[in-house]
Amino acid sequence: MSNQTDFLNRRLHSLLGVIPVGFFLLEHLYTNYHATQGKEAFVEAVNFLWGIPLLPVLEIFFIFIPLMYHAFYGLYIVFRARNNVSQFGTFRNYMFVLQRITGVITLVFIIWHVWQTRVQLLFDPTPTANELAMDTASILSNDITAILYAIGVISTVFHFCNGMWSFLVSWGVTVGPRAQLVSTWVWIVAFVIISYFGLSALAAFNDPNFASNVATLQ
Ligand code: HEM
Repeated sequence: MSNQTDFLNRRLHSLLGVIPVGFFLLEHLYTNYHATQGKEAFVEAVNFLWGIPLLPVLEIFFIFIPLMYHAFYGLYIVFRARNNVSQFGTFRNYMFVLQRITGVITLVFIIWHVWQTRVQLLFDPTPTANELAMDTASILSNDITAILYAIGVISTVFHFCNGMWSFLVSWGVTVGPRAQLVSTWVWIVAFVIISYFGLSALAAFNDPNFASNVATLQ
């Protein structure tokens, strides 16, 4: 690949990680967080999303294709880049390696999660938000699955927050060491808050009462 093509691919990869993939991640965790207020709140949030015109087209062009590009070019970066953490044991080198490891974990998690939730919906000719809530609660009622999902959520949120730190550096927003230090703390706090949102939703679906409400209300 020529240097210029490589540069443009890197820029596109970086941008798509934030817009739209990063935005989608935040929106998705926010929608799921409604589960903490009970099944009806989650169903209402999903029905609102399903009411958006041309949703399948938006999903393909603004989520699926950008995510695939970011993921597969990301894999190319992972297996091509030199991970020199053993030579330079600094905090940023560890973050550099963790960015790559969490990228791969996130990819495995997304494929599994999309298969279990979104692809299964395609087999149902008339899916309802209530069925989606019921199926999600049933998937997450298994504690091992819930723990694996928790690892997936933490990995994805870490990847996004640490990625935002490097995105702000590479797009020239946080230039000096002081700005980068402040940014480190901002994204550590963001990591804790966003993880809390994601894990709370998992705990809500894992709650046996959530599942039994779903079963009786279907
Ligand atoms: C919800 C899913 C994902 C989100 C929100 C996301 C977000 C981001 C963000 C914001 C960045 C920083 C871009 C920059 O440094 O300028 C990034 C970097 C990166 N992502 Fe992702 N990403 C996701 C999934 C993936 C997947 C599945 C892979 C596959 C391996 C991956 C691999 C990478 C790699 C290797 C980098 C570092 C690029 C570099 O240092 O130049 N990401 N990601």
